[in-house]
Parts: sequence; structure tokens; C-alpha cells
Amino acid sequence: METSIDSQLDYQKFKQIVLDRRSIRKFTEQPVSIEDIREIIDCARYAPSDTNSQTWQFVAVRNKDKIKAIEEMTWEQLRQRAADAEARGLSREGRLLVKSFGPYATAFSDAPVLIVCLATPYASKFRDKIFDPIGLVEDHVWAEEGIKSSCLASQNLMLAAHARGLATCPMTGPVLLAAEQLRAYLDLPADSQINMVIALGYPSEQPGRLARKEIDEILTIID
Ligand SMILES: Cc1cc2nc3c(=O)[nH]c(=O)nc-3n(C[C@H](O)[C@H](O)[C@H](O)COP(=O)(O)O)c2cc1C
Repeated sequence: METSIDSQLDYQKFKQIVLDRRSIRKFTEQPVSIEDIREIIDCARYAPSDTNSQTWQFVAVRNKDKIKAIEEMTWEQLRQRAADAEARGLSREGRLLVKSFGPYATAFSDAPVLIVCLATPYASKFRDKIFDPIGLVEDHVWAEEGIKSSCLASQNLMLAAHARGLATCPMTGPVLLAAEQLRAYLDLPADSQINMVIALGYPSEQPGRLARKEIDEILTIID
């Protein structure tokens, strides 16, 4: 059995990994090996999921031209939305969308890998035998259930990457703007939801930690 000193050390190391992970938006040219990608997906797949349904799939794009094409389709959609806003008399908002949200939504552009995180349909014996026959919840709730598990797997992936000296940035910007273009371009299954994309690579920036809400602001204990 582990001594308590060992478990305290494990905990300190774990907490350091959690605290030191940052969203990284600038990467070196160093490629990420398939072995590294497989290793972090190995950690992702041990995330918990509703009735162990494992409603996740990952598509790792390592082709620079394809990542560039995804960046371009995101900008194109962004400009389209800005033009639509302008046509409705919202030109200031349209300009801000391009200027402020544009770089944020395309911050994966110099990453050597872009991982598209999918949530697959929630399927389980519970759903077939009990939930659906009695109409327990509406269908959109099952879609959300898939997203929840996919998010947990994505967080495992990001912590594992950080622990291996890699860096990530989780991003929904390109998904909010260009999900359908992305789906068509990568031939993603029609029944999956595109949850987020994660930029992955070796960091070329080391931003400081961002402030968080205080524990007392976010925790209520009921004894
Ligand atoms: C659901 C979600 C969507 C995000 N979308 C983007 C994005 O589109 N672009 C981006 O640069 N960062 C994105 N981020 C990263 C956040 O900006 C970042 O996590 C937050 O500012 C806290 O910084 P940290 O991750 O470095 O601690 C997203 C994060 C989450 C959880």
C-alpha cells in the first residue's frame, strides 16, 4: 500500500499539472508524433461517461494545408456573419466580430495538429429498454448527455498533453462559425455533434496563469 507521503506527492504533482495547464495559441514547428497523439487519446478514453456509453470520437488533423483550409473557412464564415450584421444595421458589432472574435476563433492556425472532438449519439440498453419507451426526456437531452461525456474526455486529453510537455487550446469559435463547412470538409459523420476543436503542439509561449473565481464564490456546502 502507498504511504501517505507518496500519495501527498502524487497529489501535489497532479495539482501542478492542473494549475500549470494553459490554453496555448502559439506553437513551435516541432511535429507531434502519432505515438503522442495515441497516448493522449488513451487518457481521454478513460474519462467517465453516462452508462459507460463513451460518446466520443476524435479526428486528429496533422496536415498543415488542411489546418490552413479550416482556418480559411472559419474566416470566410466570420466575414459572412459580419456582412449579414452590417446589412441589418449592426456594422459596429460586425466590425468587432471580425476584429476581436476573428483571431480568437482562428487561434489554432499555427498548431501542427488540430483535434476535432465529436460527441457520438448516446446509445444504451437503459435508453432502449426503459427511457425511450416511457419518453423519459426529450431527444435534445440525449444530445447534451453525449456532449457532457465528450467534454470530460477532452479535459483528460488536455491534461495528458500538458503532462507530456505538449500544449493545447480548446476552441469552440470555429465550431460556432463553420461547423457544417468543417463537417463537409472532413467528411464527419452526420449523426455526430462537433463538440470542440483542440489545437495541439509544442508551446512557443508561456502565458501566466489567469485569475479564477474564489472558492467561496463557487462553492456552497450543505451539511
Ligand atoms: C468551451 C470553450 C471554448 C473555448 N473557445 C475558445 C476559442 O474559440 N478560441 C480560443 O482562443 N480559446 C478558446 N477557449 C479557451 C479559453 O479562452 C480559456 O480556457 C480561458 O480563457 C481560460 O484560460 P486557460 O485555459 O489558459 O486557463 C475555449 C475554452 C472553452 C472551455
